[in-house]
This record gives sequence, structure tokens and C-alpha cells, in this order.
Amino acid sequence: MSTTLRINGKPHQVDLPDDVPLLWVLRDEVGLTGTKFGCGVAACGACTVHIDGEAVRSCQVALSDVWGEVTTVEGLGTPDAMAAIQQAWVEHQVAQCGYCQSGQIMQAASLLAENPAPSDAEINEAMQGNLCRCGTYPRIRAAIHAAAQKMQEA
Ligand code: FES
Ligand code: FES
Repeated sequence: MSTTLRINGKPHQVDLPDDVPLLWVLRDEVGLTGTKFGCGVAACGACTVHIDGEAVRSCQVALSDVWGEVTTVEGLGTPDAMAAIQQAWVEHQVAQCGYCQSGQIMQAASLLAENPAPSDAEINEAMQGNLCRCGTYPRIRAAIHAAAQKMQEA
């Protein structure tokens, strides 16, 4: 079935079965490969994107269930105009292998939209579904605090 999705501010027409997960629409059809496949069962968070600002696991959202505007890590900012959270990620050298990181950033961005100054405990709670094999959790927390501060100063 032909469906039009708004992704990162632009319309994309896709002609795929209703039950294709949004993750594969993004990666295979639209070519936005910043969103990663990890577990496929909502257990790792690697595939996290936003729908109308809410962090969702794109491996678990069928194409026909996409209810609003999709934002991926490519739509959060660009290398020339990074979002505060992306800038903080670079400054704190958060990524190691990098595989989980776009999902981490998208989850963190939705946390900061809801809670502009989260505590360590609030960060741990919001980020608990995003797994990192490399163990970058302390740097993730530091980058989220830094982005929160920067956003409050802006
Ligand atoms: S790939 Fe979607 S949560 Fe792991
Ligand atoms: S940076 Fe390697 S899995 Fe998180």
C-alpha cells in the first residue's frame, strides 16, 4: 500500500506492506541508515527514533501504525549545525564502537524535551532501555548533563 510519511521534515512516499517495521522503511527504503538494528524485539534501543517527539523503538512500529512525524538522528541536526545533544556527545567523546549511539542520542533528546534538567537517577531511568555493549554509560550521563546546561543557557 502506498503511504506518505513525514520524515525529518520532508514527505516520503513508500509502497510497502502495512506490517513492515518502520526501522526497515527508514533504512532500506529511505536510506537513513543512522538508525540501527540491534535486537528486533524492543530490548536494546538501537533503533530508537521519534514519532511526534516521542522516543519509540522503530523495530516494533508497523508502517501502518506510524501516527505522526518521524525524526531520526539525521534529522536532529547536521554536522554543520548539530543539536546541543549531538554537540555534547562529540565533546564528551561518548561513542566507542558507536553502534548503539544514535538510539542513545534519540532517547536522550526526548528525555531533555520532557525534563530539561534531569538528575542522574532520572537519566538512568529514562535511558535504561538503551543498551551499550561498550559500557559508555558514564559518558552518556555526562553528555546529557552538558547538553541540558547548554540548552538552558541558550
Ligand atoms: S532493534 Fe529495536 S529495540 Fe533493539
Ligand atoms: S558504543 Fe558500542 S555498543 Fe554502545
